[in-house]
Amino acid sequence: MEKYFSNVETPKVSIAPMVDKTHRHFRYFSRILTKDALLYTEMITAQSIIHGDRDKILSFRKEEGPVALQIAASNPEDAYKAVKLSNDYGYSEINLNCGCPSDRVSGNLMGAALMSSKDLVYEILCAMKEATNKPITIKHRIGIDGTGVLDNTSNKIIMEGYNDLLDFLNTISKAKPDRYTIHARSAILKGLSPKDNREIPPLDYNMVYNLKKEFDYLNIEINGGFKTIESIKDALTKVDGVMIGRAAYEDCYLLANFYKLYNGNENIKPISRGDAIKAYIPYIIEELENGNSVHSLVSPLHSLFQGQKGSKKYKQLLSSSNVKKDSILDILNTILETMPEDILWN
Ligand SMILES: Cc1cc2nc3c(=O)[nH]c(=O)nc-3n(C[C@H](O)[C@H](O)[C@H](O)COP(=O)(O)O)c2cc1C
Repeated sequence: MEKYFSNVETPKVSIAPMVDKTHRHFRYFSRILTKDALLYTEMITAQSIIHGDRDKILSFRKEEGPVALQIAASNPEDAYKAVKLSNDYGYSEINLNCGCPSDRVSGNLMGAALMSSKDLVYEILCAMKEATNKPITIKHRIGIDGTGVLDNTSNKIIMEGYNDLLDFLNTISKAKPDRYTIHARSAILKGLSPKDNREIPPLDYNMVYNLKKEFDYLNIEINGGFKTIESIKDALTKVDGVMIGRAAYEDCYLLANFYKLYNGNENIKPISRGDAIKAYIPYIIEELENGNSVHSLVSPLHSLFQGQKGSKKYKQLLSSSNVKKDSILDILNTILETMPEDILWN
């Protein structure tokens, strides 16, 4: 393994790139809840950065920062161009997606399918590094199981087990990526939907922990299945960082408790749910005026009372049939006036 030390700090916690979820409204509200996590964009293809409406796709408010941009690319040329074009938008780092199992992505030799071509991943990472001074990171799986993605034959490609993972890392570490975020579940490229592949096959944290034990100079962040502060704290005794996916939108108030991951923060009081809503209201007003849809603006709030008294009523108030551009501010005020005080303000 290429022995090198990146001087890029790994945040203890990050919010995963998630298509249709980690859009800029979600990130704005996440940042109200926590100053402690690195936030990712959704996966954006290099092609759409090169040919699409770049300002629309890449612009974000600086209040969201730090934000990492995740790109999907299938060749070094596109990756180079996309990173170069993103340089002035203020991202703190750029990440390469080597973990998405969806047909649409893997069929175009992007995402997890790239893991079957480690030399190509190495070349893409080198091209990304050449295009920017910012940290370049990679998000990948512990392995893949798929069919003929490279040459469209029916050859089965299987990368599983620690040695295959080492083989992959041996090659890509020569490009000196600044961090490896490892989703501790193999990608299944055929025969399983991306949704099912989020539960099957089982997670294997030990593969990631062993890697960090053996190569302690690599910056390693683990991903997959983390839902509580306790489980994150435990993982942080073994790796440099933990990436949170679904829990960030299924139980978003978890983010307000990230301060507990840092020693010396015992006296900090996290922002209350009520204050978080209040802080988000001016943003809603402004973004509605900019023509944004009320539903996408409200979506980051949906799980704010998850597991709490009154959560059913809260979800009803914010249900899509209730929420309209003209009614949203009244609804939020009703929430602030009628939800249980101890949950709203503590
Ligand atoms: C709705 C959704 C969209 C996702 N989109 C992306 C993506 O754009 N890029 C990526 O690398 N992973 C994507 N993922 C995978 C997550 O980043 C993460 O690796 C996965 O959910 C496992 O983490 P978790 O168990 O904490 O949810 C997505 C996951 C979900 C649920």
